[in-house]
Order: sequence, then C-alpha cells, then structure tokens
Amino acid sequence: MEYRLLGKTGLKVSVVGFGGIPIAQIGEDEAVKVVEKAMDLGINLFHTSPTYGDSASKIGKAIRERRDECILNVKVFGVSRRRAEKDLEAALRMLQTDRIEIVQFRITREEFKRGLGKDGGLQVLLKAQEEGVIEHIGITDHDPNFVADAIETGYFSNVLVPFNYVYDEALRRLIPLALKLGVGVAAMKPLGRGVLTNVSEALNYIWEHGVSTAIVGMKSVREVEENAQVGMRVQPLTPKQKETLRSLAESLLRQYEVRSGALEPKKVSK
Ligand SMILES: NC(=O)c1ccc[n+]([C@@H]2O[C@H](COP(=O)([O-])OP(=O)(O)OC[C@H]3O[C@@H](n4cnc5c(N)ncnc54)[C@H](OP(=O)(O)O)[C@@H]3O)[C@@H](O)[C@H]2O)c1
Repeated sequence: MEYRLLGKTGLKVSVVGFGGIPIAQIGEDEAVKVVEKAMDLGINLFHTSPTYGDSASKIGKAIRERRDECILNVKVFGVSRRRAEKDLEAALRMLQTDRIEIVQFRITREEFKRGLGKDGGLQVLLKAQEEGVIEHIGITDHDPNFVADAIETGYFSNVLVPFNYVYDEALRRLIPLALKLGVGVAAMKPLGRGVLTNVSEALNYIWEHGVSTAIVGMKSVREVEENAQVGMRVQPLTPKQKETLRSLAESLLRQYEVRSGALEPKKVSK
C-alpha cells in the first residue's frame, strides 16, 4: 500500500481510505471482517460519523485490539456547540476510543459564521484538541469552493471534499490553494457513489492531482481487496487513459446528474 503525507498534519495516510457509509447496510460480523481485511491490506485511514447508522460501532469493534494501526477520521456537525458536543461524544463512545486523529468539521457556507462563533462547534473542537482528545481539525462540505474559502481562515489542516473524474470542481480552486497552504486533501465519493466501476483508472485519476487519499465506501471483502490492490500499484494515467476518462465523463453526464459529487440518474421528463 502506498502512503502519503496528509499536508501539515504530518500523518501518513494510505492512498486508499476506508469510507464508512456502506457497512451500515450489512451485519456486524461481516462488517468486522471487512474492516479487519482493510487493516490486513494496509489501509490505515478509517472515515465514519455517528450519523452513519451503526458504522462507527462496527469500526470500533473491529479496531479495538489494533487501535495503534489506525488513523480515525470522524465527521462532526459544527453549526452549534451542542451539536458538535453530541456528535463528538457519540463518536468516541461508538469507536470505543479516547482519542480521534482527525475530526472534520461539517458545515455549509450559510452556517459557517455561526459555526465559528462563540456558540459554534469550532470552539468544542478547539477545546478537545487542547485536551488531546482530537489531534487534527479539518473541514468537510460538498462545495469545494466554500471549503477553499474556509481554509483561508487558517483553522483547518485538512479537507474532505467530493472529487472524481466526473465531478472535478475541486481542481479549479481548492486543490491548488490547499497544496500551497500545506492543507491535506482527501477525496470523498471517488467512485461517484458506486457508478464509476473502472476502479483503477478512477482512483489513479484522484492520486495524480495532489490528493493524499481517496476515501472509498466499501462493504465487502472483495471490494477491499480490489481497492487495496490498486493502492499498492499507484500509476500515472497514460494520455490515452486520460482521454478515455474525459469521454466517459461526458457520456456519464448525459445520463446522470451530479448531486454533491454523487451521480444520480437523470429523470426523464415525459
Ligand atoms: N464528510 C462528508 O460530508 C461525507 C459525505 C459523503 C461521504 N463521505 C465519506 O466518503 C466515503 C466515500 O463516499 P461514498 O461511499 O458515498 O461513495 P464512493 O466511495 O464513491 O462509492 C462507494 C460505493 O462504491 C462501490 N464500490 C466500492 N469499491 C468497489 C469496487 N472495487 N468495485 C465496484 N464497486 C465498488 C460500493 O458499491 P456497493 O455498495 O454497490 O457495493 C460502494 O457503496 C463514504 O463512505 C464516507 O465515509 C463523507
């Protein structure tokens, strides 16, 4: 597995990260096996949220004996102090841990001012960081241009945004700015929520743009094995592959609309 520095956090994260949404749909024993397989194959970054059903509890159970091998990455809603406290407490409890390496502050442009204010969630995260409960504070939203504005405040050492070869808005402003500021970039929805099945090309596309890790949602051992294999052989795309991805993206955009980085079939109007 290839590892990359996540900007100024200093953390070395696997290029394939584990996205926790899909394991909420499967049984606990199976989910534990999936997470254990990910660890066995060198995946060290595990992303979840107390809002993803029982995903965090399943990850917590799987990593309990191997906590030091893992970098936990949790999303906490940040609009208010109360909400951030509730999410952070729930995450710690579900993950059965007393520390989380990366907490990403989930907030929208409209909520941002409130989230940074005295009753906003950022105060909760800063205090938890001071107490050693959180190591690094990041920010996440579906709008990469808002996240670009947010990192200019200097509060955030890493970001998580949607990015894939069909939805590449992050390339315009966010990624160049983040690289300049030393802010680590992680990509969510790297497979467009499962629509992009040319996994090797889709992930290599992400890694060639300065992104440290592609956080892929997985819910089977087969998916973990396939994605980990790709992360063990990171390769630059050939000009021909890039051209193929461009035409594939054009064709997908005729059938799907992009919503928050995920691809959803267009409704046919009658
Ligand atoms: N911070 C935020 O606001 C936020 C928001 C959304 C997501 N996220 C994080 O980002 C992660 C990734 O996003 P995502 O799960 O929405 O989308 P994604 O990673 O683009 O796609 C996940 C889907 O891809 C399919 N898949 C995975 N590996 C595959 C393989 N080797 N071959 C074929 N299909 C494969 C699976 O489909 P099947 O289920 O059909 O097997 C899976 O459900 C999430 O799990 C979550 O942790 C964060």
